[in-house]
Amino acid sequence: MNDVIQKIRDEKDAHRAKLQEWLRIPSVSTDSRHNADTRRAAEFILAELQESGFEARLNDTPGHPVVTAEWLGAPDARTLLVYGHYDVQPPDPVALWRHGPFEPVIEGENIVARGATDDKGQALALIRGIGAFLRVRGRLPVNVKFLIEGEEEIGSPNLEPFIRGTRDALAADAVLIADCSQFAPGIPAITVGLKGLVYLEVTVTGPNRDLHSGSFGGAVENPGHALCRLLSSLKDDDGRVTIPGFYDDVIPLTDEERAAFRALPFDEERYRADLGVARLHGEPGFTTLERVWARPTLDVNGLVCGWTGEGAKTVLPARATGKFSMRLVAAQDPAKIQALVTEHLNRLCPPTVSLEVKPLHGAEPVLVPADSPYLKAAARAVARGFGKEPVFMREGGSIPVVATFKKVLGADSILLGLGLNDDNAHSPNEKFSLESFQRGIETVAYLLEEVAAL
Ligand code: BES
Ligand code: ZN
Repeated sequence: MNDVIQKIRDEKDAHRAKLQEWLRIPSVSTDSRHNADTRRAAEFILAELQESGFEARLNDTPGHPVVTAEWLGAPDARTLLVYGHYDVQPPDPVALWRHGPFEPVIEGENIVARGATDDKGQALALIRGIGAFLRVRGRLPVNVKFLIEGEEEIGSPNLEPFIRGTRDALAADAVLIADCSQFAPGIPAITVGLKGLVYLEVTVTGPNRDLHSGSFGGAVENPGHALCRLLSSLKDDDGRVTIPGFYDDVIPLTDEERAAFRALPFDEERYRADLGVARLHGEPGFTTLERVWARPTLDVNGLVCGWTGEGAKTVLPARATGKFSMRLVAAQDPAKIQALVTEHLNRLCPPTVSLEVKPLHGAEPVLVPADSPYLKAAARAVARGFGKEPVFMREGGSIPVVATFKKVLGADSILLGLGLNDDNAHSPNEKFSLESFQRGIETVAYLLEEVAAL
């Protein structure tokens, strides 16, 4: 492996330069004003794959394009499908960035820009590692396919149809993804659980126009209050979800799993202090890691109602909108949960207002069998690349396509985490450690070798 690793080290500046160039493209998938940029980010990675020696193409969808590529020169060997996403979350609030979100700056050990860790930096690590292998040896020890999409951050609405339509071309023994985190600095990890998601927008409508709150207040139901009552009915003061039937399908943690979580070096006080909260909060009877990784949750994500500009306006608003989402765990079914919550809201909605519940996106929860040979091979590769054995962990986040890969291709995913929990994903000043980037590139090269040896 020395030749490949040496090449990866020699190319260090080129890896960084490529990442910087990709990060300069504002591929915000949710914002149609950025559609041309989003496409440019796809074209950038298409060119990178082609330059690395892969047969690659850009596939149009009703939304943002999907880039696919492959090298299939080892007919008797296994096949890995590498997944990543080139789209990013909006950079807002832009004023809180130390510099432009799409003007990547190297600050000490980190590169800072929207998409640095989620997921351009991590996806590029996979592509550069495999690309370097191919450049040095002229061949790979396993077959490799790539699927790099541009709609992950909006729930991958067009990806399942694409995968179903090209399932033979995408067939693989395992999927490789780097879109998660290490457990902590210096403690690399492999993720074995992701949460599912149901995201809803609820609109409560009252009078046919905004009203003077003195002339009409007291005589007409205020949609803002009605919405707040509805939202408060979803959770109790401890954070336990109160929708009837919500917990019915939750697979409880085993004693062994709880013990394994407890054995991880989690510093709860440091976690609390870093977030600047007076106390942590959550479902009674569970530790913080259990709450975040293995218990379903519900959070308000946004509220819009009445006057939110400067100063006061005495208004009784005609409508109120709330966005909230539930993170699900195995074996909760997003469709069933959506039906339960919609029924609950309709039952509690007062007759004085009308209610509209609109699903925005979702994902199914995932549990990966931790004893699969692929995860063991991945653990050996991480140990070689990071110089330290990885721990197995779960995440509170979601990657919608992972369940689709299992359902349609029958393939489990290897979820590598190159990022860190404090990388500010989806937040201002997103960063990615350049050391993790480099180690990640080397890890992937080792992973090809470990998978070939299975
Ligand atoms: N990289 C994240 C998933 C993730 C989050 C992994 C936290 C580990 C920890 C991914 O890009 C993401 O943000 N996914 C969305 C999916 C949603 C829009 C359907 C999420 O979890 O909110
Ligand atoms: Zn994300």
